[in-house]
Amino acid sequence: MSADIIDGKAFAAALRARIAAQTEVFRAAAGRAPGLAVVLVGDDPASAVYVRNKGKATMAAGMAGFEHRLPVDCVQAELLALIDRLNVDPAVDGILVQMPLPRQIDADAVILAIDPAKDVDGFHPDNVGRLAIGMPGFVPCTPQGCLMLLRDRLGDLSGLDAVVIGRSAIVGKPVAQLLTATNCTVTLAHSRTRDLASIVRRADIVVAAVGQPQMVKGAWIKPGATVIDVGINRTEAGIVGDVDFGGAAAVAAAITPVPGGVGPMTIACLLRNTLIAAHIRIGLHIAEGAL
Ligand code: GUN
Repeated sequence: MSADIIDGKAFAAALRARIAAQTEVFRAAAGRAPGLAVVLVGDDPASAVYVRNKGKATMAAGMAGFEHRLPVDCVQAELLALIDRLNVDPAVDGILVQMPLPRQIDADAVILAIDPAKDVDGFHPDNVGRLAIGMPGFVPCTPQGCLMLLRDRLGDLSGLDAVVIGRSAIVGKPVAQLLTATNCTVTLAHSRTRDLASIVRRADIVVAAVGQPQMVKGAWIKPGATVIDVGINRTEAGIVGDVDFGGAAAVAAAITPVPGGVGPMTIACLLRNTLIAAHIRIGLHIAEGAL
């Protein structure tokens, strides 16, 4: 193995420490802590773990966490009514409704109901549109985490060839937009892409977000590339990413591990968005470079 391992866990811990420091500054100025409301519908075990981890990280940063649980068979109107209350609750700066939602609930209607100013997931079309046209807004957490790791590793990304594999609204599309905004030449590949191997082969940056265990092979990677693996796939061999880690690490310059790469960045960026939302809501600014 020759690649450097990008330590997302350490980077996220440092970011959370900076957020905690700025949370204290906010608390002194506002007389209250930034507040994050997390809504969990049903009892999917993986979602319950994510929600618990979000709650712990919120407290550790010195923020106020509000957890709301609804039964798996709750009706959509009940969830929308809760969102309406959170939208107008002055103690709540950020609202996150854990996805996926049970079948009887229309996730699009839920996303549309969240006040865009409290949409710390960056899923509301208002924020999606802002990202698309380069206006300030909330950027989805996992894509933001990928970009932070890339900029930390590579500095200026201008002119680099980036291939994003996966076109989801939550990861692939926003990552492609963020990379475009940082002046990369971006290819957004997906399940219908022809000859993916040769497309990946020319990339200086590879972001894999397909949800298929070890789908990206080491032989596809250009020597010296930086590889960001967003995949979290549960297999019999344990949790693996979308990239064949051993094969890719033999040729890449740097690669994120799974776990311990992009994953920890998601929660850190959620706290970052919550802190930003809290400041904007009361007309305060976070010091330049503080985050
Ligand atoms: N489920 C898995 N990841 C996410 C996320 O980033 N936000 C929400 N709301 N649900 C998720």
